[in-house]
Amino acid sequence: MGYELIEVNDPADWVAYHAIRRQELFEAKGRFGVYDENYPGEREPNMYHYLLKRDGVPLGTTRLDVRGDGTAIFRLVAIAAAEQGRGHGRVLSQMVEQRARDFGTSILFVNAAPTAVGYYEKTGWHRHVWDAEELAGISGDCIQMRKMI
Ligand SMILES: CC(C)(COP(=O)(O)OP(=O)(O)OC[C@H]1O[C@@H](n2cnc3c(N)ncnc32)[C@H](O)[C@@H]1OP(=O)(O)O)[C@@H](O)C(=O)NCCC(=O)NCCS
Repeated sequence: MGYELIEVNDPADWVAYHAIRRQELFEAKGRFGVYDENYPGEREPNMYHYLLKRDGVPLGTTRLDVRGDGTAIFRLVAIAAAEQGRGHGRVLSQMVEQRARDFGTSILFVNAAPTAVGYYEKTGWHRHVWDAEELAGISGDCIQMRKMI
């Protein structure tokens, strides 16, 4: 079966998607009781929720926000802790980039967590301030980056 990038739709995939996001992007950073599966503003028509699986096993998540100007934002990227450092993040990025190209995107943006900047640099991203107003609240310590695809 190998790797598959699934646009989340099936109820079991939503459960896996939220579990990885809650664990890796909130609880692993000490933010307990905060993650809201029904957070307002997560289900806009230009937002695509993806689950990376290998051999049917959920490994990672991201949300791609496609904008109407040839750009898109790579958000909430996470690989399950037990699977980090094995190349799955690189595969996730390659597969999401292909989806973004299919939407006519040529430039990707991200708000990178400081601990993830190395991952982005290894996968072809460069520091670039693309919207300073996004760097508020829980994104306050993020580093904005860009990738041409
Ligand atoms: C960041 C994350 C998505 C990377 O996924 P991963 O599966 O661990 O990454 P990979 O194993 O595919 O690594 C790809 C490359 O990036 C490098 N890399 C991965 N994480 C890194 C890090 N934190 N710092 C420096 N380099 C890193 C790897 O060494 C590898 O380089 P190589 O191919 O030259 O050896 C994952 O570690 C994660 O989910 N972290 C917790 C959540 C998080 O911080 N998400 C980012 C929010 S912006």
